[in-house]
Amino acid sequence: MNKKLKAFALAFLLLTLVTGILLGFTLGLTHPLPWILIVALALVIVLNKKATDSQFVTWKDEYSVGIESIDNDHKNLLKLINQLQTSSLYYTGENFDKDALSELIDYTKFHFAREEKMMEEHGYPDFEAHRQQHRKMTDSVVRKVLEYEADSEKTVEDLLEYLKSWLINHINGTDKKYSSFLREKGVK
Ligand SMILES: [Fe+2]
Ligand SMILES: [Fe+2]
Repeated sequence: MNKKLKAFALAFLLLTLVTGILLGFTLGLTHPLPWILIVALALVIVLNKKATDSQFVTWKDEYSVGIESIDNDHKNLLKLINQLQTSSLYYTGENFDKDALSELIDYTKFHFAREEKMMEEHGYPDFEAHRQQHRKMTDSVVRKVLEYEADSEKTVEDLLEYLKSWLINHINGTDKKYSSFLREKGVK
């Protein structure tokens, strides 16, 4: 079901429940129907919020690589992913989508350049393999963005899925390897 249809279905369900509650009260305060519908309404609201919240990424202390500037970059990247997620969920329009996308891509490139400079400066032995992972990721994202004009909704959804899993895995795996090497060399 596409985003607009989903939003319409939810609005219709909420409106039906509210109407049902109001009509239910005409049967009297002691009638169980309006109270059952109030519980159903609360349940729909809570479940919808839960489903929405679960699509956002949250920073966890276990993601820390122990280097402040890199942690701050990673936190910013998660923030930018969430910004794109907001655009995707609430259909804020093509301009918001495009701004969120380009901000995310620019910041990703800036962050990769910072990491690569640090690794190179300190003679990290797996530097080339790490840089290749960054290249592969940016190439995939740039290729995917080209599909935006043909199907904006699917492109953003696919990108979000890819970015969330790639970034968390990369921070927790590959980035932790070079960061422990740098920390041994005194980088904080
Ligand atoms: Fe990183
Ligand atoms: Fe990295």
